[in-house]
Amino acid sequence: MKTSDLIKKFPEEKDLVTHSRPYFNHSIEFKNIFTPRERADMLDIAGLNMFFFPSEMITGCDLLSDSGTTSMTNEQWAALHLRDEAYGSNRGYFLVMKQIIETFGEEFFNDPNSGRPNAFIFHQGRPAEDALFTMVGRLGSGLIIPGNGHFDTTQANIKRNNMQAVNLFSPELMDESSGYHFKGDMDLIKFKSLLERSHNKIPLSYLTITNNTGGGQPVSMENIRDVSNVSNHYDIPLFFDACRFAENAWFIQQHEPGYGNKDIKTIVKEMFSYVDGFTISFKKDGLVNMGGGLFLKDNGLFMKKYPDIPDAIMGHQIDKEGHPTYGGLSGRDIMTLAVGLKIATKEEYLTYRINQVKDFGENLKNHGLPVMAPIGGHAVYLDMNKFFADTAIKPEDFGGVAFTAVLLAAYGHRTIELGNFSFGSYDKKTKKEILPEFNFVRFAIPRLRYEKKDLDSVAEAVKILYENRDKIPPVNVTYGRDLPMRHFKARFEFRKYSI
Ligand SMILES: Cc1ncc(COP(=O)(O)O)c(C=O)c1O
Repeated sequence: MKTSDLIKKFPEEKDLVTHSRPYFNHSIEFKNIFTPRERADMLDIAGLNMFFFPSEMITGCDLLSDSGTTSMTNEQWAALHLRDEAYGSNRGYFLVMKQIIETFGEEFFNDPNSGRPNAFIFHQGRPAEDALFTMVGRLGSGLIIPGNGHFDTTQANIKRNNMQAVNLFSPELMDESSGYHFKGDMDLIKFKSLLERSHNKIPLSYLTITNNTGGGQPVSMENIRDVSNVSNHYDIPLFFDACRFAENAWFIQQHEPGYGNKDIKTIVKEMFSYVDGFTISFKKDGLVNMGGGLFLKDNGLFMKKYPDIPDAIMGHQIDKEGHPTYGGLSGRDIMTLAVGLKIATKEEYLTYRINQVKDFGENLKNHGLPVMAPIGGHAVYLDMNKFFADTAIKPEDFGGVAFTAVLLAAYGHRTIELGNFSFGSYDKKTKKEILPEFNFVRFAIPRLRYEKKDLDSVAEAVKILYENRDKIPPVNVTYGRDLPMRHFKARFEFRKYSI
């Protein structure tokens, strides 16, 4: 009997409940062991600010960010050694050029000798945003940049250049009864009405895929197409903040009618066919620890409308980062990016990655925790208003900050508050807090780094904190309450609290 006939008598592999990962460990790193007491003392020294806590003391999972925290593959480590650290036109630059063309389309990377520069490498996402908005900000006064939910650095770069960042979150975003899969969409009705009123004040529109500020939710192809049509109708270019483009494409493939049979690469190409440019931090779906870029579509609306800007961007890039052929990155960083971008659209990688995030979120949900649903591609968001709803914690007590500090000190897991403190601000005149639309703690899952057991241990710790939520005290802000981007800088202490 042939073995292939024999195995037909057994349940099929695909029908098994558990599957092994589509990769295995290449090398591992042992953690240092620190006691809860040692972590707690250190946290007091760091003023309960997650960013100032030494990562080497994290004995659990570090879910502070999925940005730049990827475990690289063996191919990336090998590519790193093949680096060329030349001052101009290093080997990796040409490989990245080839890969950008392959992933996003040839119109996003012109031959450097063509005289039409349109591809700008930066060391992160935010200097790319800085370059774009510095140039766009010079186009006039009172300008507005509408988006589906600007990331904090994007918003800061828009404001720094005297423009207004307007967030048009989808009305579905906080609607729990909605089973809609694309809650990251732009609110099309509000977008149309804004453009009707103020189109002459809008130099470009911006879609963040996936919507990190809006619960990490994906944006549908239909919304991308509609936003592009409306924008272009008013002669306004559309840009992506494309950090998590591959994860967004996976959601389109899984949940949007008409895309189930299309592969990720085809979906990505279609997504980018609707935009005139994009900024990107490669530290997410580029699967690298450092890198970013700004890419303009050749003959796209942006390049046609603002023909002087590409050259001005190149000047800015040279002043701030270096020659366009390395743009603030070492040759070895560029080599790892050329390989990382290729892996990012692999179907088996994306399926495993996004399901890992989903399984972790469902685990929390099964423990009764108020998790934002559906679960997004890179992180799980816990609604702190609901978490503390039946306790004495008020919005200005920054319960989310307190929660992250107790979780780290007691159980060794690092997360981040993205809510009343991070996205709120302090009005010095009224001496009152201005609260944002959402109040989350985010558990961002680094790519290719943790196993199920790691995330199970986080879920158990969070469950225990939920059961003991009335023991989590408010925090006082001891420094930085009125600073811009205050969550990166502020310090806190626990308030004396009796229950
Ligand atoms: C949606 C989004 N845009 C922009 C950025 C900025 O990228 P970078 O951290 O590389 O400057 C981030 C970083 O987390 C992000 O999530």
